[in-house]
Amino acid sequence: MSLDPQEFMTKMEKRVNLTSEDKALLKSHADWGKEIASEMADHFYTYLGNDEEMDAIMKEKEGRMERLRVTFVQWFYEMFTGMDDWGKAYAERRWRIGLVHVKIGIAPQHVVPAMAIVVQAFTNRIKTDSKDEALRDALSRICMIDLAFIEQAYVEVSSAAVLKETGWTEGLFRRLISTGASSM
Ligand code: HEM
Repeated sequence: MSLDPQEFMTKMEKRVNLTSEDKALLKSHADWGKEIASEMADHFYTYLGNDEEMDAIMKEKEGRMERLRVTFVQWFYEMFTGMDDWGKAYAERRWRIGLVHVKIGIAPQHVVPAMAIVVQAFTNRIKTDSKDEALRDALSRICMIDLAFIEQAYVEVSSAAVLKETGWTEGLFRRLISTGASSM
């Protein structure tokens, strides 16, 4: 069940239909992405701060908020540049981000609505700046890929932990999950 980030990236690109035209459009708006990244971070952190659980996580460690602001701005910008043309480095960076969230215990119930806030925030800014709707579509697609990485990290880490602890085979584990889901 160990995930190859680059393979996963390729699969997700196909699944969300991130095209070469999308990539070209994102790259051509990299400066704009950098310009609005800080405003996006403001929306994101205001949202997290208004939720009791997420606010508590943010305040758990000294300097966390400041660190996150910097990494969020960088993350946002990377969606436009694609780092290495959305290749190995991009995929590995996204996988790492997923693992960081799993380790801290930030669940899908936190991450999915948070990504929706990001999408809403750039959609508004795209309207204000009279940008093409194609840019919103391209950016939404890459956001969904990044989100899939974080979500998949939960499945991979949880499964790997159970398999390691119990020595079960993957087949047995899947059967047990299926039986468990049926009885819920
Ligand atoms: C749209 C979804 C999200 C994105 C794109 C995002 C982005 C990031 C990035 C880029 C990092 C740095 C990872 C690294 O150090 O390698 C990070 C870490 C972190 N994120 Fe998120 N995040 C998201 C959702 C959330 C949510 C919902 C929370 C809830 C509180 C959260 C809290 C944190 C925390 C606490 C860290 C570790 C900070 C530290 O101590 O260094 N994130 N995130």
